[in-house]
Amino acid sequence: MSEKTRLMVALDVPELTDALNLVDQLGDQVEWYKVGKQLFTHFGPVVLKELKGRGRKVFLDMKFHDIPNTVSQAIRSAALIGADIINVHALGGPAMLAAAAAAGKETGKTVIAVTVLTSMDAEQLNAIGVQASPAEQVLRLARLTKEAGLPGVVCSALELPMLRREFGTEFLTLVPGIRPAGASAGDQKRIMTPAQAADAGASYIIVGRPIVAAPEPAAAARAVLEELANVAGN
Ligand code: C5P
Repeated sequence: MSEKTRLMVALDVPELTDALNLVDQLGDQVEWYKVGKQLFTHFGPVVLKELKGRGRKVFLDMKFHDIPNTVSQAIRSAALIGADIINVHALGGPAMLAAAAAAGKETGKTVIAVTVLTSMDAEQLNAIGVQASPAEQVLRLARLTKEAGLPGVVCSALELPMLRREFGTEFLTLVPGIRPAGASAGDQKRIMTPAQAADAGASYIIVGRPIVAAPEPAAAARAVLEELANVAGN
């Protein structure tokens, strides 16, 4: 794969002070952070202000899903508070995705989409009236994402090879469910090691608990980065 795989740490902690302690412990070795609903709902834009003040980059994982105008305004707001990557639900449909793409262009921010949540299996999809298999549905929504002009998706390790085959190496893939060899899987079912994800062409690996909950987060991050660096071309 021509593009390098970057590490992004998921700041899944309840307290701002814990989040910032972690960021300070990890230091310059980690540039990218994912800020999700737990931290942002409680502490809001100050989380991004603190991260940006430390020279870090932020993926604001809010998964916007609303009417096109609302999503487009939400993206503008996210851009104003310093988000570098912002995401929306591809389920919002082509018009919403087009509005998201336009807002991304206007703000100069990277707007990507979520296809099918990994908590949705065939039975869950069926219950909401979707007859397609999870893989078919992922592909359909990823196509809509690309056609709308958005540059990539969040995807599971399982979907990564399929999306790479379909859309090539230019399409951004942000891949959670990463477990270094020997780490506990927790509730993640479709997992890959950092090296496997790099090999499969992930643009970013999103790593939470294996770093955030490690006894020594900096050492855990260093091990992941070393694993990435050992993959040919990375
Ligand atoms: O702790 P862990 O490494 O499992 O964290 C992965 C992060 O990626 C969490 O923030 C989780 O919510 C997120 N995520 C995921 N699976 C998806 C989409 C997002 O685990 N399909």
